[in-house]
Amino acid sequence: MTGFQLRATVESDRPEWLRALRASRELHAPWFPSLDERGGYEGLFDSGMERQASGAAWRGLAVAPDGRIAAWVNLNDLVRGVSETANAGWSVSAEFAGRGVATWAVNAMLTHAFADDGLRLHRVACGIMPANHRSLRVAEKCGFRREGFAKELIRIAGNWEDHVLLAKLASEHRG
Ligand SMILES: CC(C)(COP(=O)(O)OP(=O)(O)OC[C@H]1O[C@@H](n2cnc3c(N)ncnc32)[C@H](O)[C@@H]1OP(=O)(O)O)[C@@H](O)C(=O)NCCC(=O)NCCS
Repeated sequence: MTGFQLRATVESDRPEWLRALRASRELHAPWFPSLDERGGYEGLFDSGMERQASGAAWRGLAVAPDGRIAAWVNLNDLVRGVSETANAGWSVSAEFAGRGVATWAVNAMLTHAFADDGLRLHRVACGIMPANHRSLRVAEKCGFRREGFAKELIRIAGNWEDHVLLAKLASEHRG
């Protein structure tokens, strides 16, 4: 992805972050808890920044050469000590869908997650709804292994949804 950049979200990203996320509502809605249950768009940005500042999350962005946000790649629930683990989440901006940006951004996020000069994590996990074939394909291309199945893991659009559980270890990532 020539000219694309992966970096942490900063406060000055707020206007473009909100614009791009609002423009992607239809693409994202079937696969994520409703924005109402997550504090709305502004509340989601605020809580992400708070969790990043406290070390509980890393909120990454893939930024296109023209400055538009192309993808969101998040590492949530960061646990240190004897776990050194996080849960990954990702989505692409509707304006960049289907062009390989998600795969590039998730791979770059994993490199940052595992790098000595990055987050130095041991393990990154994720959960994906079985019907989300595009996301499962992204996970597969990025080297996540299927580890299990969680019944009714997250409430999405009013329904408790099952998720396939996947993970990747630092030792499994070539970067
Ligand atoms: C999942 C998501 C990030 C993928 O973004 P994307 O831009 O399509 O991703 P990429 O282009 O990098 O890769 C998509 C892959 O899925 C494949 N694909 C597309 N539609 C597919 C389908 N119906 N079934 C199987 N694979 C499919 C593509 O061919 C491509 O694989 P390939 O490179 O082997 O051809 C995007 O659709 C999205 O944001 N969805 C809504 C939010 C979401 O679901 N997030 C993940 C929650 S776990």
